[in-house]
Amino acid sequence: MDEKRRQLLTGISLAGAGVLLNACRSTSNSSGSATNEEKTEQAPGEHEPVEVTATEDLMREHGILRRALLVYQESAMRLRQDAASVPPDILEKAATLFRVFGEDYHEKKLEEVYIFPTVKKSPGAPASYVDVLLAQHTRGREITEYVLAITKADRIPSNSIEPLARAMESFVRMYAHHAAIEDTVIFPAWKAAVGEAELDALAAKFEEIETEQFGGDGFDAALQRMEEIETSLGMSNLDMFTAPAPH
Ligand SMILES: [Fe+2]
Ligand SMILES: [Fe+2]
Repeated sequence: MDEKRRQLLTGISLAGAGVLLNACRSTSNSSGSATNEEKTEQAPGEHEPVEVTATEDLMREHGILRRALLVYQESAMRLRQDAASVPPDILEKAATLFRVFGEDYHEKKLEEVYIFPTVKKSPGAPASYVDVLLAQHTRGREITEYVLAITKADRIPSNSIEPLARAMESFVRMYAHHAAIEDTVIFPAWKAAVGEAELDALAAKFEEIETEQFGGDGFDAALQRMEEIETSLGMSNLDMFTAPAPH
């Protein structure tokens, strides 16, 4: 296990978010930890860090959150067909990832501190979205809390299946719109308001917050976690989602 990953795991645990990366820990352990491997071996998917702009950073975080929402969407469908086909602990992992990476970091540490206040103060239509976006963050947290509570048990009670499926679907619908408005209206408005010079400084600041929150590259860790969740549900083959030809 390389030092960066080790620090990342430790950092996540210290941040009280150890659950997010438990699976990563076991994966990394099983791949061996010989120190002489460190110079030459690079785990699949690992790469040299590349520079990302502040808005690109926010948008790729949305990519992780969309993948968690696709797990909700698929799970809601499967729950109705055959509840036993959705292991509660996998849903719990998806909800934990959404909480740790989406709500506690992306929303609370970045959007609510840096993005929304600037956009709200700027003239123009984008400012009028901010209160709704904040209300949606709050509602999302309520739904995450609910999903976490229900999926704690070994089995989802039969009378909770439909309410859980509905809650996840409505969350997916809300957040798809939410993130689409942020990507196309809010982030561009923020970028215009802060200006090029400050953007670079803010990209570095976001990087710093990410390291502080996760003890390393939170995006890489979240991506790996997301892939594990998708694999557990048999959703890791992109081609299975290729649409049939129209008739
Ligand atoms: Fe948001
Ligand atoms: Fe967002």
